Amino acid sequence: MAFARVCSLDDLWEGDMGVFEVNGTEVLVAHLEEGIVRATQAYCPHQRVALVEGDLDRNTLICSQHLWEFDLVTCRGINPDHAELANYPTEIRGDEVFVDPEGDSPKTARP
Ligand code: FES
Repeated sequence: MAFARVCSLDDLWEGDMGVFEVNGTEVLVAHLEEGIVRATQAYCPHQRVALVEGDLDRNTLICSQHLWEFDLVTCRGINPDHAELANYPTEIRGDEVFVDPEGDSPKTARP
């Protein structure tokens, strides 16, 4: 485990997402409803499009390219449901967000 500080909650309000480099790994961090913070891969498992360019609708991330949908609470695909995203371990310490980029690895998926 190698947790590293990524940002503060003031940098990432509820409903926001951003990309941060964490120990050499690009990680997308999203502040979801009810204070849930998730850290996942920066690129879509379909064709490596930047997920930060998609839409965050409540807790659902919709890729801008082919509109695949992911539940960021579980990091599982909604449509298609066989897709998944990396789910990097995340901790909130006070107002600071810490992520372990070695705790998972980016996923890929075919249609
Ligand atoms: S690249 Fe994201 S859905 Fe195709």
